[in-house]
Amino acid sequence: MQTSITESSFGHMPDGRAVTEYTLTNANGMIVKILNLGGVITEIHVPDRDGKLADVNCSFDDVASYLGDSQYFGALIGRYGNRIANASFTLDGQQYQLDANNGANHLHGGLEGFHRRLWTAETFVTPKSAGLILSYLSADGEQGYPGNLETTVIYELRADHELRIAFHAITDQATPVNLTNHAYFNLAAGGDILGHELTIHADHYTPIDDVQIPLGDLPPVAGTPFDFRSAQAIGARIDADDEQIRNGFGYDHNFVLAKKAEGALELAARVREPVSGRVLEVWTQEPGIQFYSGNFLGDSVKGKGRIYGHRSAFCLEPQHFPDSPNQPAFPSTILRPGEEYTTVMAYKFTTE
Ligand code: BGC
Repeated sequence: MQTSITESSFGHMPDGRAVTEYTLTNANGMIVKILNLGGVITEIHVPDRDGKLADVNCSFDDVASYLGDSQYFGALIGRYGNRIANASFTLDGQQYQLDANNGANHLHGGLEGFHRRLWTAETFVTPKSAGLILSYLSADGEQGYPGNLETTVIYELRADHELRIAFHAITDQATPVNLTNHAYFNLAAGGDILGHELTIHADHYTPIDDVQIPLGDLPPVAGTPFDFRSAQAIGARIDADDEQIRNGFGYDHNFVLAKKAEGALELAARVREPVSGRVLEVWTQEPGIQFYSGNFLGDSVKGKGRIYGHRSAFCLEPQHFPDSPNQPAFPSTILRPGEEYTTVMAYKFTTE
Protein backbone atom coordinates (compact mmCIF):
# COMPACT_ATOMS: atom_id res chain seq x y z
CA MET A 1 0.00 0.00 0.00
CA GLN A 2 1.17 3.51 -0.76
CA THR A 3 1.20 6.56 1.48
CA SER A 4 -1.31 8.99 0.02
CA ILE A 5 -3.62 11.91 0.60
CA THR A 6 -6.79 12.63 -1.35
CA GLU A 7 -9.48 15.32 -1.11
CA SER A 8 -13.26 15.26 -1.40
CA SER A 9 -16.06 17.73 -0.78
CA PHE A 10 -17.71 17.66 2.66
CA GLY A 11 -20.21 20.43 1.94
CA HIS A 12 -20.20 24.18 2.52
CA MET A 13 -20.04 26.75 5.29
CA PRO A 14 -23.17 28.93 5.70
CA ASP A 15 -21.33 31.68 3.75
CA GLY A 16 -20.67 29.31 0.85
CA ARG A 17 -17.00 28.48 1.44
CA ALA A 18 -16.13 24.87 0.59
CA VAL A 19 -15.44 22.36 3.37
CA THR A 20 -12.96 19.69 2.27
CA GLU A 21 -12.31 16.27 3.77
CA TYR A 22 -8.72 15.01 3.43
CA THR A 23 -8.09 11.27 3.49
CA LEU A 24 -4.65 10.30 4.75
CA THR A 25 -3.54 6.69 4.22
CA ASN A 26 -0.30 5.22 5.50
CA ALA A 27 1.83 2.46 3.99
CA ASN A 28 0.22 -0.10 6.30
CA GLY A 29 -3.39 0.73 5.48
CA MET A 30 -4.35 2.96 8.40
CA ILE A 31 -6.76 5.69 7.29
CA VAL A 32 -7.42 9.07 8.93
CA LYS A 33 -9.86 11.66 7.59
CA ILE A 34 -9.63 15.32 8.58
CA LEU A 35 -11.68 18.43 7.68
CA ASN A 36 -10.42 21.95 7.06
CA LEU A 37 -13.46 22.89 9.22
CA GLY A 38 -12.14 23.02 12.78
CA GLY A 39 -9.33 20.62 11.85
CA VAL A 40 -11.89 17.98 12.79
CA ILE A 41 -10.78 14.34 12.67
CA THR A 42 -13.77 12.57 11.15
CA GLU A 43 -12.49 8.99 10.86
CA ILE A 44 -9.63 6.86 12.21
CA HIS A 45 -9.51 3.31 10.85
CA VAL A 46 -7.11 1.04 12.71
CA PRO A 47 -6.72 -2.76 12.81
CA ASP A 48 -7.71 -5.05 15.67
CA ARG A 49 -5.45 -7.96 16.67
CA ASP A 50 -6.71 -9.95 13.65
CA GLY A 51 -6.00 -7.11 11.25
CA LYS A 52 -9.65 -6.09 10.88
CA LEU A 53 -10.01 -2.32 10.38
CA ALA A 54 -12.69 -0.31 12.22
CA ASP A 55 -13.34 3.38 12.71
CA VAL A 56 -12.55 4.09 16.38
CA ASN A 57 -13.36 7.82 16.21
CA CYS A 58 -16.75 9.49 16.77
CA SER A 59 -18.05 11.83 14.11
CA PHE A 60 -21.03 13.50 12.48
CA ASP A 61 -22.36 13.29 8.94
CA ASP A 62 -22.39 16.91 7.79
CA VAL A 63 -21.22 20.49 8.25
CA ALA A 64 -24.44 21.57 9.99
CA SER A 65 -23.92 18.95 12.71
CA TYR A 66 -20.38 20.21 13.35
CA LEU A 67 -21.52 23.84 13.49
CA GLY A 68 -24.26 22.88 15.99
CA ASP A 69 -22.03 20.58 18.04
CA SER A 70 -21.41 21.20 21.73
CA GLN A 71 -19.33 18.03 22.17
CA TYR A 72 -16.31 19.27 20.16
CA PHE A 73 -16.12 15.97 18.22
CA GLY A 74 -12.60 15.46 16.81
CA ALA A 75 -11.83 19.18 16.71
CA LEU A 76 -8.85 21.41 17.26
CA ILE A 77 -9.49 23.41 20.42
CA GLY A 78 -8.38 27.03 20.84
CA ARG A 79 -7.44 29.49 22.00
CA TYR A 80 -7.87 27.73 25.31
CA GLY A 81 -8.50 24.04 25.94
CA ASN A 82 -10.96 23.50 28.81
CA ARG A 83 -12.42 26.09 31.20
CA ILE A 84 -11.61 29.61 32.32
CA ALA A 85 -13.62 30.55 35.42
CA ASN A 86 -16.27 33.23 35.03
CA ALA A 87 -15.08 33.67 31.42
CA SER A 88 -12.62 36.25 32.61
CA PHE A 89 -8.97 36.78 33.52
CA THR A 90 -6.58 39.63 34.27
CA LEU A 91 -3.32 39.95 32.36
CA ASP A 92 -0.73 42.71 32.88
CA GLY A 93 -3.27 44.65 34.93
CA GLN A 94 -6.03 44.53 32.35
CA GLN A 95 -9.19 42.48 32.73
CA TYR A 96 -10.52 40.55 29.74
CA GLN A 97 -14.05 39.21 29.30
CA LEU A 98 -14.38 36.06 27.20
CA ASP A 99 -17.41 34.40 25.64
CA ALA A 100 -19.32 32.58 28.41
CA ASN A 101 -20.49 29.35 26.75
CA ASN A 102 -20.56 26.93 29.71
CA GLY A 103 -22.81 28.53 32.30
CA ALA A 104 -20.80 31.50 33.59
CA ASN A 105 -17.53 29.88 32.45
CA HIS A 106 -15.61 29.85 29.18
CA LEU A 107 -15.05 26.39 27.64
CA HIS A 108 -12.76 25.33 24.77
CA GLY A 109 -12.24 28.80 23.31
CA GLY A 110 -15.88 29.90 23.29
CA LEU A 111 -18.95 29.11 21.24
CA GLU A 112 -17.15 30.17 18.05
CA GLY A 113 -13.75 28.77 19.01
CA PHE A 114 -11.18 27.25 16.64
CA HIS A 115 -13.37 24.15 16.26
CA ARG A 116 -15.90 26.07 14.14
CA ARG A 117 -13.45 27.99 11.96
CA LEU A 118 -12.47 27.18 8.40
CA TRP A 119 -8.70 26.68 8.28
CA THR A 120 -6.39 27.14 5.27
CA ALA A 121 -5.04 23.73 4.27
CA GLU A 122 -1.94 22.45 2.49
CA THR A 123 -1.05 18.80 2.03
CA PHE A 124 2.26 16.93 1.93
CA VAL A 125 3.42 13.37 1.34
CA THR A 126 6.85 12.04 2.30
CA PRO A 127 8.15 8.45 1.93
CA LYS A 128 7.03 7.76 5.52
CA SER A 129 4.03 9.99 6.14
CA ALA A 130 1.04 11.88 4.79
CA GLY A 131 0.16 15.21 6.29
CA LEU A 132 -1.98 18.28 6.43
CA ILE A 133 -0.84 21.77 7.41
CA LEU A 134 -3.72 23.89 8.73
CA SER A 135 -3.44 27.61 9.41
CA TYR A 136 -5.81 30.04 11.03
CA LEU A 137 -5.44 33.70 12.00
CA SER A 138 -7.44 34.41 15.14
CA ALA A 139 -8.09 38.15 15.14
CA ASP A 140 -7.51 40.51 18.07
CA GLY A 141 -10.64 40.43 20.23
CA GLU A 142 -12.00 37.13 18.87
CA GLN A 143 -14.13 35.46 21.59
CA GLY A 144 -12.67 38.15 23.90
CA TYR A 145 -8.94 37.29 23.61
CA PRO A 146 -6.26 39.95 23.12
CA GLY A 147 -3.90 39.97 20.13
CA ASN A 148 -3.80 38.54 16.63
CA LEU A 149 -2.81 34.89 17.01
CA GLU A 150 -1.33 33.17 13.95
CA THR A 151 -1.84 29.45 14.45
CA THR A 152 -0.52 26.50 12.47
CA VAL A 153 -1.34 22.88 13.19
CA ILE A 154 0.37 20.01 11.38
CA TYR A 155 -1.32 16.61 11.28
CA GLU A 156 1.04 13.84 10.19
CA LEU A 157 0.02 10.20 9.75
CA ARG A 158 3.11 8.04 10.01
CA ALA A 159 3.74 4.53 8.73
CA ASP A 160 3.84 3.07 12.25
CA HIS A 161 0.15 3.96 12.97
CA GLU A 162 0.99 7.21 14.72
CA LEU A 163 -1.04 10.38 14.15
CA ARG A 164 1.21 13.21 15.26
CA ILE A 165 -0.17 16.71 15.85
CA ALA A 166 2.19 19.69 16.10
CA PHE A 167 0.84 23.07 17.20
CA HIS A 168 2.53 26.46 16.60
CA ALA A 169 1.36 29.98 17.38
CA ILE A 170 2.70 33.51 17.52
CA THR A 171 0.97 36.65 18.77
CA ASP A 172 1.29 40.44 18.64
CA GLN A 173 -0.11 40.93 22.19
CA ALA A 174 0.16 38.81 25.33
CA THR A 175 -2.63 36.19 25.38
CA PRO A 176 -3.42 32.82 26.96
CA VAL A 177 -2.90 29.89 24.55
CA ASN A 178 -3.65 26.24 25.28
CA LEU A 179 -4.24 24.21 22.13
CA THR A 180 -5.27 20.58 21.89
CA ASN A 181 -7.30 18.04 19.95
CA HIS A 182 -10.66 16.76 21.17
CA ALA A 183 -11.05 13.37 19.44
CA TYR A 184 -13.45 10.89 21.04
CA PHE A 185 -12.47 7.23 20.92
CA ASN A 186 -14.18 3.90 21.28
CA LEU A 187 -11.61 1.22 20.49
CA ALA A 188 -14.32 -1.43 20.03
CA ALA A 189 -16.11 0.88 17.54
CA GLY A 190 -19.39 0.40 19.44
CA GLY A 191 -20.94 -0.12 22.87
CA ASP A 192 -19.77 1.76 25.95
CA ILE A 193 -16.19 2.35 27.08
CA LEU A 194 -16.54 1.04 30.63
CA GLY A 195 -14.52 -2.12 29.90
CA HIS A 196 -11.65 -0.22 28.26
CA GLU A 197 -8.57 -0.37 30.50
CA LEU A 198 -6.81 2.93 31.14
CA THR A 199 -3.37 3.83 32.45
CA ILE A 200 -2.46 7.48 33.12
CA HIS A 201 1.08 8.42 34.14
CA ALA A 202 -0.01 10.83 36.84
CA ASP A 203 0.57 10.82 40.60
CA HIS A 204 -1.56 13.96 41.10
CA TYR A 205 -4.68 15.53 39.61
CA THR A 206 -6.59 18.80 39.78
CA PRO A 207 -9.86 18.39 41.70
CA ILE A 208 -12.77 20.57 40.56
CA ASP A 209 -15.79 22.36 41.99
CA ASP A 210 -19.32 21.58 40.87
CA VAL A 211 -18.94 23.63 37.66
CA GLN A 212 -15.67 21.81 36.80
CA ILE A 213 -13.26 24.64 37.73
CA PRO A 214 -10.03 23.46 39.45
CA LEU A 215 -9.91 24.14 43.19
CA GLY A 216 -6.19 24.93 42.85
CA ASP A 217 -4.65 22.08 44.86
CA LEU A 218 -2.87 19.05 43.35
CA PRO A 219 -3.62 16.13 45.67
CA PRO A 220 -2.23 12.63 45.11
CA VAL A 221 -4.33 10.15 43.14
CA ALA A 222 -3.33 7.38 45.57
CA GLY A 223 -6.32 5.86 47.34
CA THR A 224 -8.87 7.63 45.07
CA PRO A 225 -10.87 6.62 41.95
CA PHE A 226 -8.32 8.78 40.06
CA ASP A 227 -5.48 6.33 40.54
CA PHE A 228 -4.78 5.01 37.03
CA ARG A 229 -1.06 4.46 37.63
CA SER A 230 -1.70 0.81 36.82
CA ALA A 231 -4.31 -0.20 34.23
CA GLN A 232 -7.90 -0.03 35.52
CA ALA A 233 -11.21 -0.54 33.73
CA ILE A 234 -12.73 2.90 33.12
CA GLY A 235 -16.02 1.63 34.56
CA ALA A 236 -14.57 0.15 37.75
CA ARG A 237 -14.91 3.30 39.89
CA ILE A 238 -16.76 5.69 37.59
CA ASP A 239 -19.83 5.80 39.86
CA ALA A 240 -17.92 5.71 43.14
CA ASP A 241 -19.38 7.55 46.12
CA ASP A 242 -16.81 10.32 45.80
CA GLU A 243 -17.32 14.08 45.68
CA GLN A 244 -14.91 14.53 42.77
CA ILE A 245 -16.66 11.86 40.73
CA ARG A 246 -19.96 13.63 41.46
CA ASN A 247 -18.53 17.01 40.46
CA GLY A 248 -17.37 15.60 37.13
CA PHE A 249 -20.49 13.44 36.55
CA GLY A 250 -17.88 10.67 36.18
CA TYR A 251 -14.34 11.44 35.01
CA ASP A 252 -13.85 14.96 33.67
CA HIS A 253 -10.56 15.92 35.28
CA ASN A 254 -7.09 17.13 34.47
CA PHE A 255 -4.24 14.83 35.52
CA VAL A 256 -0.80 16.23 36.39
CA LEU A 257 1.59 14.18 34.29
CA ALA A 258 4.61 12.64 36.00
CA LYS A 259 7.13 13.92 33.44
CA LYS A 260 10.65 12.56 33.31
CA ALA A 261 11.81 15.79 31.64
CA GLU A 262 9.78 18.99 31.46
CA GLY A 263 8.63 19.65 27.88
CA ALA A 264 9.70 16.21 26.55
CA LEU A 265 7.40 14.20 24.29
CA GLU A 266 6.44 11.38 26.66
CA LEU A 267 3.78 8.70 27.00
CA ALA A 268 0.92 10.18 29.05
CA ALA A 269 -1.85 7.60 28.83
CA ARG A 270 -2.61 4.19 27.39
CA VAL A 271 -6.00 2.59 26.71
CA ARG A 272 -6.49 -1.09 25.92
CA GLU A 273 -9.74 -2.59 24.69
CA PRO A 274 -9.56 -6.27 25.71
CA VAL A 275 -11.94 -7.79 23.10
CA SER A 276 -10.45 -6.24 19.94
CA GLY A 277 -6.95 -5.98 21.39
CA ARG A 278 -6.69 -2.38 20.12
CA VAL A 279 -4.41 -0.12 22.13
CA LEU A 280 -4.21 3.69 22.00
CA GLU A 281 -1.27 5.57 23.45
CA VAL A 282 -1.39 9.33 23.91
CA TRP A 283 1.95 11.12 23.92
CA THR A 284 2.47 14.78 24.76
CA GLN A 285 4.90 17.52 25.73
CA GLU A 286 2.21 19.14 27.89
CA PRO A 287 2.17 19.04 31.72
CA GLY A 288 -1.44 17.76 31.92
CA ILE A 289 -4.09 15.62 30.28
CA GLN A 290 -7.87 15.86 30.57
CA PHE A 291 -9.57 12.49 30.90
CA TYR A 292 -13.23 12.89 29.97
CA SER A 293 -15.38 9.75 30.09
CA GLY A 294 -18.14 10.95 27.74
CA ASN A 295 -20.52 11.80 30.56
CA PHE A 296 -22.41 14.38 28.50
CA LEU A 297 -22.93 12.09 25.51
CA GLY A 298 -26.45 10.72 25.17
CA ASP A 299 -28.93 9.09 22.85
CA SER A 300 -29.60 12.37 21.01
CA VAL A 301 -25.96 12.50 19.83
CA LYS A 302 -25.86 10.67 16.48
CA GLY A 303 -23.60 10.31 13.46
CA LYS A 304 -22.29 7.81 10.91
CA GLY A 305 -25.27 5.53 11.61
CA ARG A 306 -24.37 5.29 15.29
CA ILE A 307 -25.87 6.64 18.50
CA TYR A 308 -23.21 8.12 20.76
CA GLY A 309 -24.82 7.26 24.08
CA HIS A 310 -23.75 8.09 27.62
CA ARG A 311 -20.10 7.05 28.12
CA SER A 312 -19.85 5.49 24.66
CA ALA A 313 -16.53 7.27 24.02
CA PHE A 314 -13.68 8.90 25.90
CA CYS A 315 -11.31 11.81 25.31
CA LEU A 316 -7.71 12.19 26.46
CA GLU A 317 -6.79 15.81 25.79
CA PRO A 318 -3.17 16.86 26.39
CA GLN A 319 -3.13 20.40 27.77
CA HIS A 320 -1.95 22.92 30.32
CA PHE A 321 -4.19 22.87 33.37
CA PRO A 322 -7.73 24.30 33.15
CA ASP A 323 -8.22 27.88 34.37
CA SER A 324 -4.46 28.59 34.44
CA PRO A 325 -4.95 32.30 33.58
CA ASN A 326 -6.64 32.63 37.01
CA GLN A 327 -4.38 30.22 38.91
CA PRO A 328 -0.93 31.76 39.42
CA ALA A 329 0.47 28.53 40.93
CA PHE A 330 -0.25 26.53 37.73
CA PRO A 331 2.29 26.48 34.85
CA SER A 332 1.77 29.63 32.77
CA THR A 333 -0.25 29.60 29.54
CA ILE A 334 0.62 33.17 28.55
CA LEU A 335 2.23 33.66 25.13
CA ARG A 336 3.97 37.01 24.54
CA PRO A 337 5.02 38.80 21.35
CA GLY A 338 8.40 37.50 20.16
CA GLU A 339 7.83 34.04 21.68
CA GLU A 340 6.69 30.98 19.78
CA TYR A 341 4.14 28.55 21.18
CA THR A 342 4.90 24.97 20.17
CA THR A 343 3.62 21.67 21.47
CA VAL A 344 3.51 18.18 19.99
CA MET A 345 1.11 15.36 20.78
CA ALA A 346 0.53 11.95 19.21
CA TYR A 347 -2.10 9.24 19.09
CA LYS A 348 -0.32 5.90 18.53
CA PHE A 349 -2.19 2.70 17.78
CA THR A 350 -1.02 -0.85 18.35
CA THR A 351 -2.66 -4.18 19.23
CA GLU A 352 -2.09 -6.66 21.98
C1 BGC B 1 -14.69 18.83 29.05
C2 BGC B 1 -16.10 18.40 29.35
C3 BGC B 1 -16.96 18.79 28.19
C4 BGC B 1 -16.44 18.11 26.96
C5 BGC B 1 -17.21 18.41 25.72
C6 BGC B 1 -14.25 18.10 27.82
O1 BGC B 1 -12.95 18.46 27.50
O2 BGC B 1 -13.81 18.61 30.11
O3 BGC B 1 -16.57 18.96 30.53
O4 BGC B 1 -18.31 18.45 28.40
O5 BGC B 1 -15.09 18.48 26.76
O6 BGC B 1 -17.55 19.71 25.61
